[in-house]
Amino acid sequence: MKLLENRILKDGRVAGKDILRVDTFINHQVDPELMQKCAKDFASHFKGKGITKVVTIESSGISPAVFTALEMGLQLVILKKQPSKVLNDDLYQTMITSFTKGTNYELTLSKEVISENDHVLIIDDFLANGEAVTGAVRLLRMAHATVAGVGVLIEKAFQPGCDKIMDAGFEVYALARIGDMSKDEIKFI
Ligand code: G4P
Repeated sequence: MKLLENRILKDGRVAGKDILRVDTFINHQVDPELMQKCAKDFASHFKGKGITKVVTIESSGISPAVFTALEMGLQLVILKKQPSKVLNDDLYQTMITSFTKGTNYELTLSKEVISENDHVLIIDDFLANGEAVTGAVRLLRMAHATVAGVGVLIEKAFQPGCDKIMDAGFEVYALARIGDMSKDEIKFI
């Protein structure tokens, strides 16, 4: 999506070797007009696939996911992070390792909000190592729901997340695919 690519070129900042900072338009300050346009693109791409709910992972996935759910006329479910294991019969839980942040956390889903009748679209901001999305898929499987596809704003194609998700049999639709980046240049695929 040209609009998102151009905004990344204008306002994105490369930090270190492989982190793209998007704090001024996606995950600290949010540009709602940009999010709405991204959501329209997701909604149009995944139209007619029998999707019943949009699912995201807190926290930065929430903005694109809210707009996407609104655009598709669906409810949004936010998978929540908990610092340690809380045993609870009403929740599905799975452990996620975040390589980028060097943290582990439990991702949780209430049994009340997803059922075996759901066909879900997963929306997130970044696809990097794919751990968050893989964990989301594990939780949705526990609930016997099915996954229609994965939509991300930004895929860092030089990291293994996209291949991991596609190898597991799921479609990945990324609005901006970064093939390579450095402090001076961001190259899209
Ligand atoms: P994954 O998201 O594909 O699973 O990969 P990874 O485990 O490496 O990423 C962990 C966290 O780091 C995720 O946020 C992800 O969105 C974020 N992240 C990965 N690459 C980048 C990047 O280049 N720039 C920025 N700004 N964030 C990146 P999270 O732990 O789910 O937390 P939250 O930020 O959504 O709250």
